[in-house]
Amino acid sequence: MTQYLADPSAATAPESPGTPGRPGWWRDAVIYQVYPRSFADGNGDGMGDLQGVRARLPHLKALGVDAVWLSPFYASPQADAGYDVADYRAIDPMFGTLHDADAVIRDAHELGLRIIVDLVPNHCSDQHLWFRKALAEGPGSPLRARFHFRPGQGPDGELPPNDWESIFGGPAWTRTENPDGTPGEWYLHLFAAEQPDFNWDHPAVRDEFRSVLRFWLDLGVDGFRIDVAHGLVKAAGLPDLGRAGQLKLLGNDVLPFFDQDGVHAIYRSWRTVLEEYPGERIGVAEAWTPTTERTARYVRPDELHQAFNFHFLGAEWDAERLREVIDDSLDAMRPVGAPTTWVLSNHDVVRHTTRYADGDPARGLRRARAATLLMLALPGSAYLYQGEELGLPEVTDLPDGARQDPAFFRTSADGQTGQDGLRDGCRVPIPWAGTEAPYGFGPRAGGPSWLPQPESWAGLSVEAQTGRPGSTLELYREALTVRRAHPALGAGESVEWLAAPDGVLAFRRRAGGDGPDFVCTVNTTGEPVALAAPGRALLVSDGELPRGEGEVTQAPDTAVWWAV
Ligand code: BGC
Repeated sequence: MTQYLADPSAATAPESPGTPGRPGWWRDAVIYQVYPRSFADGNGDGMGDLQGVRARLPHLKALGVDAVWLSPFYASPQADAGYDVADYRAIDPMFGTLHDADAVIRDAHELGLRIIVDLVPNHCSDQHLWFRKALAEGPGSPLRARFHFRPGQGPDGELPPNDWESIFGGPAWTRTENPDGTPGEWYLHLFAAEQPDFNWDHPAVRDEFRSVLRFWLDLGVDGFRIDVAHGLVKAAGLPDLGRAGQLKLLGNDVLPFFDQDGVHAIYRSWRTVLEEYPGERIGVAEAWTPTTERTARYVRPDELHQAFNFHFLGAEWDAERLREVIDDSLDAMRPVGAPTTWVLSNHDVVRHTTRYADGDPARGLRRARAATLLMLALPGSAYLYQGEELGLPEVTDLPDGARQDPAFFRTSADGQTGQDGLRDGCRVPIPWAGTEAPYGFGPRAGGPSWLPQPESWAGLSVEAQTGRPGSTLELYREALTVRRAHPALGAGESVEWLAAPDGVLAFRRRAGGDGPDFVCTVNTTGEPVALAAPGRALLVSDGELPRGEGEVTQAPDTAVWWAV
């Protein structure tokens, strides 16, 4: 059974994270990612929507998170599940209306939850007005300068302008047709062909996005998650990469179209916009960079507030490797004074329950729960992806006919599916209640859901896990309660590593003053380990409290939180 032995001195933390107006709220915020298509379907059409989000906000409040990040809900043809935006100031009818967005923001604020929206500035949809006009007006149109249009190579311009490949597979260029029907210029799209890249050297693009920021800030959002934040500026002259090979989503390569120094001026100008508004509105960079030092450049004091730390997400379940990544992440952020962030799952990667399974789902869940306690014990801000609080696994047997991920359909030259062809498996609508699909995702038992859910998910629903001792949902709730109350948890710059047996991580966090210290121990091995109990166990990831005082036995693949 999961146990939380309340620490009376911890219950009197002066201010809880998420209190509106608390200075530096984002330094230790726990931020929950809602993927609107798959969170809750208010109108019963099988697709999640803003009414659904609004109705389920109390779940997020009860879970104990501080903020909600909403993946895109803007007007979009959905070529990449909304990351292809046709109108940055409009809501796609499948998600609702601007009135619904306003209601979500207001209700969230009433509950003490902040709202972060997704901003997609690297590219838009090929149905965006600028791009449609640029195409229709033909070569020479001034609107083409807002994108990367180029003549092709070869005698008839039949070859792409350079050798860049799309992250989703295939060439990063698509040839256009001139208004008179003849083959025309090519345009750049680092992702799907329906996602033309903006040319960020063009002042109109810069002005437009500052205006879009203000539009949403005026509506009351607390921040932006910035999609492909490292991609906006391309190396001058768009030089060849010089090698073939599929580039990875969340990769670490040095590339002429990612992490160019020129992106930072953009974020400095955005910071001034954010600072015009009260209440510490934040920018969070989704920046895949070669090193954590490069990531830190996005969160210098006059740039953005946070950047995702994919190096942690990418680390395997191994004590040494995890410790290395944790130290490296903290060391990289310290000089710039930004909080480190931690994330284990999102809408682009295989859920961590499955990543850690090594073929054994029970082991995967055990490790996932331990990894969550590890993450929530670290200094900084943590991101949760919807459904991880239910211990949901990746759905690996979706029928091809149900899939929507463009990466799945952009087959590579050798006929294999694109390397990110599995992203639908983490996007299956989450189960809320009941015994029949869609398990409360929609209003009606037997109603539709845009991706089919496994039958086993009935037992994983919010309803099924609420109040069930030892459930993953209750573990998350307890962990977030302790994290909020314990004076040694939350913001900070470092951890103090303690001596531990091979394969075990042990670190201390100091509360300062008279407050109780905190220790986290993680056994990443497949064997029980004997440990000297560092204090009183507060929370155990698998619910089994190690035996007795003094020496205890910590079960395989578990984490324990200790009050010291
Ligand atoms: C988003 C993906 C999206 C891509 C293109 C990413 O990093 O998280 O879901 O496909 O950007 O917008």
